[in-house]
Amino acid sequence: MHDSILLFGATGDLAQRYLFPSLLHLLRDRLLPENFRVVAIGRTQHDDDGFRAWLRERIDEGDGYSGALDDLLSRIRYHALNLNDTEAMAAALAPYADRPAVSYLSTPPNLFEPACRGLKAAGLLEPPSRLVLEKPIGHDLASAREINATLRAALDESRIFRIDHYLGKAPVQNLLPLRFGNTLLEAVWDNRCIESVDIVVAETAGVDGREGYYADYGALRDMVQNHMLQLLALVAMEPPAALDADSIRDEKRKVLRALRPMTAADAASDSIRGRYGPGVVEGRAAQGFKADSAVETFVGLRAWIDNWRWAGVPFRLATGKRLPSRTTEVLINFKPVTHWLFDRPNARGATPNRLRMRLQPEETIELGLMGSLAAPEWGATELMPMSLDMAMLPPKRRIAYERLMIDALKGDQTLFVRDDEVEAAWRWIDSISAAWQQAGTPVHEYPAGSWGPNGAEAFLPRTVGAPSGRRG
Ligand code: BG6
Repeated sequence: MHDSILLFGATGDLAQRYLFPSLLHLLRDRLLPENFRVVAIGRTQHDDDGFRAWLRERIDEGDGYSGALDDLLSRIRYHALNLNDTEAMAAALAPYADRPAVSYLSTPPNLFEPACRGLKAAGLLEPPSRLVLEKPIGHDLASAREINATLRAALDESRIFRIDHYLGKAPVQNLLPLRFGNTLLEAVWDNRCIESVDIVVAETAGVDGREGYYADYGALRDMVQNHMLQLLALVAMEPPAALDADSIRDEKRKVLRALRPMTAADAASDSIRGRYGPGVVEGRAAQGFKADSAVETFVGLRAWIDNWRWAGVPFRLATGKRLPSRTTEVLINFKPVTHWLFDRPNARGATPNRLRMRLQPEETIELGLMGSLAAPEWGATELMPMSLDMAMLPPKRRIAYERLMIDALKGDQTLFVRDDEVEAAWRWIDSISAAWQQAGTPVHEYPAGSWGPNGAEAFLPRTVGAPSGRRG
């Protein structure tokens, strides 16, 4: 396990909110090597102590762990660097090439290339050193290819770790064990038994403070290209021959490549775009997103995977900002039984089986079944929907980045995205942008705090926002 991490973007929002807190938790739980050290790199001028004081104010140590924050801060060195100045970068960072390191670029993609140049000059991309990159990997297929080519010129794909933090969430990691460890599920995991799949990522937060980035991306590029397509790929992939990183990623890539490109003719039936206007979210007044913006803050899509297993099964994807509740879930909706026998409820009241994997607000996996209480006052032939808790999740909820940082330090690429997956995902996203452009697909305004524009219901599950059925 490598024991040295160079964190670029150390004064940025992601570092403050997730990356340093993840390192703190890992240290606290003694999951990091003894000599673990962090080299923090940002643009703001600080000396080591100045940066430590700045960070201390922004990180909550958490109850019952006194000393962990001091321990983390004592392991941090800070450098203010201009990444376009290769010589200065090489001079400042070369001393850290004494140990194999993981360099983590939590920076905008236009800095990937200069950062690689400086790291190379400092000797920090030599094997077995590794490079971790935050999204977005480009803005479309062409720019993603350019970034991937730049990275490949600097180091081998086996040492490149592209983060998609959704892959670090516990229920997402549980998906493959559930699917491939259980005959009961895998036997019904196809178009004979599954009617449709819903993937929903609803946020109450707005674009807040990221207007510049978002104006170029919108919900399609910000959320669907990466997180939602990764979820779709894990739900839809074929069983890999083995559990190594490349076997899994080969299968995910095949799914992404089988996504049917959207055409202008399909745009109206298979997609919807919205942008939040003023409204009320969770009891508080919220302003609208820039009315003159060309991008959407809500997108609904009907995706089709053109292969043997999924022919005819719609995958509905919906994501939006400033929606009524924070809900992230994947629903596998099974077909109804072929012949309904029971009087109560009658066939119309029967609820088909459904597997509901929730990532937010709580982490749960539930299987919806029809059952009977078989009590004297409730006959064995009178059924009611029941929810079986299938979550074998760790008792302590962890930040998704904790798992990903450990894996990057260990060199396990399973939960990281490979170059060809990123490109396959962009190819499909590009077909949608082109279809929207050709068809002139409008961006409809919706009030902040509502479930998207008129027509969005066709892309959302009926139960969206309903609490989980988990008991106790
Ligand atoms: C990020 C997007 O990748 O994911 C954000 O850029 C979004 O716009 C965030 O809010 C959602 O992540 P999570 O873990 O809060 O669902």
